[in-house]
Amino acid sequence: MNKEIAKVKKYYDEGDEELRFSDPRKKIEYINTCEIVKKYLPIQGEILDCACGTGAYIEFLMQNNNKVYASDLSDRNIAIVTDRFGQHNNLIIRNDNALDLSVYPDNKFDLILCMGPFYHLKSDLLKKCMQECIRVLKKDSIAVCAYMPRQFVMWNLINNPVYKISFEEVMGLAENGYLKSRQSGFWGCSYFSTPQEMLDIANQFEVEVVEHCSVDLELGNFYDKVKDLSNEELEVLRKYILKHSSNKYCLASSKHNLLIIKKL
Ligand SMILES: C[S@@+](CC[C@H](N)C(=O)[O-])C[C@H]1O[C@@H](n2cnc3c(N)ncnc32)[C@H](O)[C@@H]1O
Repeated sequence: MNKEIAKVKKYYDEGDEELRFSDPRKKIEYINTCEIVKKYLPIQGEILDCACGTGAYIEFLMQNNNKVYASDLSDRNIAIVTDRFGQHNNLIIRNDNALDLSVYPDNKFDLILCMGPFYHLKSDLLKKCMQECIRVLKKDSIAVCAYMPRQFVMWNLINNPVYKISFEEVMGLAENGYLKSRQSGFWGCSYFSTPQEMLDIANQFEVEVVEHCSVDLELGNFYDKVKDLSNEELEVLRKYILKHSSNKYCLASSKHNLLIIKKL
């Protein structure tokens, strides 16, 4: 395993991914992702969730009698998925790197979720990962590629009292998409792309971009502002975000974007 991927694996093996959506403000990302992806769910098809984390989307994907292949780099996350869902007949769980899907033949899947690897892969590896997803996807089927844009992170890290990353470093990240200094944890193994970079990479393949949207807009920079909202108010906010999710002028400054492509 290459050194960069080993750092990503270490980060998630030491993490607490299963808690990510326990905060109702953060769950907006999950609900809106399901709202956007549900129109692409096949019926009795085969779906690859190729960085499934601790399985947040597995039950959603198993709807319609679909067979789900859930894989992830992290041993820890795969152990949690096995514990939670191991008894399901329609689920195959694998410890895999999304850069090498050679265990699967070409044109196998009716839908692929790749929501994790692009938070970490730069240039050539980013392209390789997208290529692998497209290879194992059936013609006319959909791949959902999640990524985090760098402008969002710039605002998040400037003068951040928790991470204390220097202003120069943050501005370097805003230009290049990653921190050049040796950092531990998430910031030391992450890559933040741009909407244009993701489009440019996708356009090197035989695909059509069917949707390019955000699932949470700039919410991630304003969690404190919404901490006292009631559940009803959060729901109004969530629906607003969903309604405006495809506003291309918001894509650069939002937290989690989906590039949704169809294999031609
Ligand atoms: C932030 S979590 C997202 C999990 C889930 N897809 C979701 O959207 O909630 C990112 C996941 O991607 C996995 N991951 C990162 N790089 C990967 C790679 N190259 N191959 C497979 N999994 C990877 C991590 O281990 C982690 O579980």
